[in-house]
Amino acid sequence: MIRTNSHYGKLQASYLFSEIAKRVRAFEAGNTDRRLIRMGIGDVTEPLPPSTRAAFHAAVDEMGTRGGFRGYGPEQGYPFLREAIAAHEYGARGCNIAADEVFVSDGSKCDSANIQEIFAADTTIAIPDPVYPVYLDTNVMAGRTGAYANGRYDGVVYLDCTPENGYVPALPDQPVDLIYLCFPNNPTGAVADRASLEKWVAFARESGALILYDAAYAAFIRDDSLPRSIYEIEGARECAIEFRSFSKNAGFTGVRCAFTVVPKELQGTGPDGKPVSLHALWNRRHTTKFNGVAYPVQRAAAAIYTPEGSAEVKALTDFYMKNARRLRESLTQWGRACVGGDNAPYIWIQVEGRSWDFFDRLLNEAGVVCTPGAGFGKCGEGHVRLSAFNSPENVEEALERMAPVFAG
Ligand code: MLT
Repeated sequence: MIRTNSHYGKLQASYLFSEIAKRVRAFEAGNTDRRLIRMGIGDVTEPLPPSTRAAFHAAVDEMGTRGGFRGYGPEQGYPFLREAIAAHEYGARGCNIAADEVFVSDGSKCDSANIQEIFAADTTIAIPDPVYPVYLDTNVMAGRTGAYANGRYDGVVYLDCTPENGYVPALPDQPVDLIYLCFPNNPTGAVADRASLEKWVAFARESGALILYDAAYAAFIRDDSLPRSIYEIEGARECAIEFRSFSKNAGFTGVRCAFTVVPKELQGTGPDGKPVSLHALWNRRHTTKFNGVAYPVQRAAAAIYTPEGSAEVKALTDFYMKNARRLRESLTQWGRACVGGDNAPYIWIQVEGRSWDFFDRLLNEAGVVCTPGAGFGKCGEGHVRLSAFNSPENVEEALERMAPVFAG
């Protein structure tokens, strides 16, 4: 029989959101008369913005003509989308990112998981705790960690995010090669100001570490003093890769489109000690293992950079942020310590007892699905996350139902 990858044996239970879905299915099977309100996984609920739909339709029609039909496209993305991203996401904010440094893909989940493939197997990783589970689990799968004990994998440098540090981690106190950062943060909703990011960039440059910066929620930032991209920080081109997504701003979780920025200055060390371009390596990986995002999807994504599309995306993110504010205000009124909800669509709430117990309680007593903090790491214990991706009606009903649990 084929031998399997032994590192998978180190993984804990199932992927967090699969475990939640399993518990929810079990609850629904036994409670067919109850309507659940889902505030667990950060999945969007509102229809696609009209400009993206129109561009999507037009591109499908174009593909139905002899002149407009396209087969395989460029693996890295069509120039029209790469150029629009470089201009609108970066140029407009004073960041110097060229179109050919943008790699269009089908999701930040995949990109943040796949990127570690271009680094050495014995790379030391620094990972925030709590964290989006994909960063950690994919390094476990790749054999970059030891065994799991007491809520942590051996060999990983954990960056604790706690109420004491406002859920923004301190710099590692030992050398590391790869640093995962995510702001606005999933799961906590915490944000990093310019001064904190400057510290991280300075640390990475001095120590030769590489930052993997996940900015999938950048469009939810409402405080204009906060950086939306790591490249707003001087020197970041020499030490950071950035992941961005159309999932949450344009409602593309089911459509699938994202991008990763790999500046040409970024270098690693090859086996012979000589510098290797990370841009070239990622390009090699991307072109070998990926055949590009569908043309109509890329046209739909590019539509968010038209004046109409950009107004629609602003309205869509405002819609979710209104929910986020309502949730945060009510939780605060109920005396709950929480963060997020002001520049991120997630609210991270301190709860008594174990977070999976609180998850079960909220499910059973309120019929509301949250995400238990422990699923994001040891420091997530004693917290739950609520997602603001929902309708205002559901948010109001959820607040009514949750009040006795949170305020009680
Ligand atoms: C979440 O709920 O954390 C997100 O939906 C995960 C994701 O974007 O893959």
